[in-house]
Amino acid sequence: MAADAFVSLLNEQIAHEYAAHQQYVACAVFYDAETLPQLARFFYAQALEERDHAMMMVQYLVDADEKVLIPGVAAPQVDFKDIVAPVALALQQERRVTEQINALAATARSEGDYTSEQFMQWFIKEQVEEVATMSDLLRVVERSRDDVMEVENYMAREHPGVEGDDPTAPQAAGA
Ligand SMILES: [Fe+2]
Ligand SMILES: [Fe+2]
Repeated sequence: MAADAFVSLLNEQIAHEYAAHQQYVACAVFYDAETLPQLARFFYAQALEERDHAMMMVQYLVDADEKVLIPGVAAPQVDFKDIVAPVALALQQERRVTEQINALAATARSEGDYTSEQFMQWFIKEQVEEVATMSDLLRVVERSRDDVMEVENYMAREHPGVEGDDPTAPQAAGA
C-alpha cells in the first residue's frame, strides 16, 4: 500500500523517466552521426540509467501492490543546431526531473506515507549527481565548441565507462 496521491504521481514519473530515456537515445544518435563516439557512448549509457529509474519505480509499485501504468511518451527532440544543444537540453531535463522528484517526496511526506518518502531518497541523491554531471559537461562543450576533439578527450578521461553497481540503488523490475 502507498498513498493514492503518491501512486498517481509516481506513475506519471515513470513516463518522465522513459521520456528521458528516449531523449538521451536521440542525443546519442545525434553525436554518433557526427562521429563523436565518446559523447555518443556517454548518452547511450545515460539513457540506460533513465530506463533503470523507470524500472525501479515499476518495481516499487509492484511490491506495494499498486497499479502500474506503463505509459506512452511524447517523441523526443532529434535535431540539434550544434554539439552544445543536446547537453543544454539534458541539463534542463535533469533540473525539471529534480523538481518532480522533490514533489514526489513532498507528497509522500504530506500524505504520511513515510515508506514512499524513504524510497524517494535515493532519487534525490541521484539527481544531485546528474545535474552536476550535466552542468560540468555543458561548461566543457561551451568552452570547446570549436574544438570538439577536446570534448571527446574530456569524455574519455572523465567518463571512461559504465558506473559500477550502486548497492544502495532500489531494485529495478526484471533485473
Ligand atoms: Fe532519471
Ligand atoms: Fe537523469
